[in-house]
Amino acid sequence: MGQVLSESQIAGYHRDGFLVIPDFTDASACRAVKTRAEEILRAFDPESHRSVFTTNEQSRHADREFIESANGIHCFFEEEAFDEEGRLRQAKELSVNKIGHAMHDLDPVFAAFTYTTKLAGVAADIGIPDALALQSMYICKQPRIGGEVGCHQDATFLYTVPITVTGFWFAIEDATLENGCMWASPGGHRTSLRKKFVRNVENDGATFDVLDPNPLPEAPGDLVPLEVSAGTMIVLHGLLPHWSDVNRSDKSRHAYSLHCIAASADYPSWNWLQRSADLPLRRLSDMARAR
Ligand code: FE2
Repeated sequence: MGQVLSESQIAGYHRDGFLVIPDFTDASACRAVKTRAEEILRAFDPESHRSVFTTNEQSRHADREFIESANGIHCFFEEEAFDEEGRLRQAKELSVNKIGHAMHDLDPVFAAFTYTTKLAGVAADIGIPDALALQSMYICKQPRIGGEVGCHQDATFLYTVPITVTGFWFAIEDATLENGCMWASPGGHRTSLRKKFVRNVENDGATFDVLDPNPLPEAPGDLVPLEVSAGTMIVLHGLLPHWSDVNRSDKSRHAYSLHCIAASADYPSWNWLQRSADLPLRRLSDMARAR
């Protein structure tokens, strides 16, 4: 696999803990996943699933639907999707916060977007030649009700020894200050992991264990905004504190996010995301080569 990133991009990633790559994905690939996500939203029955993606870190917990989404394609509502009587305030297509977490292995359109030689090359360039595609999310960040995602480190939710989780975040639509773009703390990955999200087998949920009580950087003050246009990919180190604001604008902010871990790392069985035996994790490089 040839090198995809330049030496200065690789150095920038290790220095900052993130790397912004404009024009990584072409417009037709963005259009294809957006169209597929919209089909999934249209087909979704809101009466049978009422799971809300609670973006506030303090109150976040996992319910059964969240745990089951490790092996499926589930839709999670925005926190502000329902009125006081529990009715949707707007069309279901405009009420879903995100779709997750195994589309990249269950849906051909998402698989084609995910398993590319180019992405496998980026992973290899930053030191994960054996990257396993662990988790996919299609984030809608809906107009007016798109929820904040509190400042966090991805390694909290997908923990390995050593820490290897890496986020590949693709802007499917332009991400701006107005519609809740990503913010990150340059160099902030050179720190400790503050919390881990531990599965609780008894009640089919998961809760936080504090590892280091020191607070993460204050958002947005200590972070910088990453305003990017559709087609940009942002690579995020698993320890990098990042945050995104609410979307009060009338534009959505669609993004696709893939999280990978190194196959060589240990993946504890207390992680919330556990794949069933009939849906094993796959390597970016193997799948890209097979296409
Ligand atoms: Fe994140």
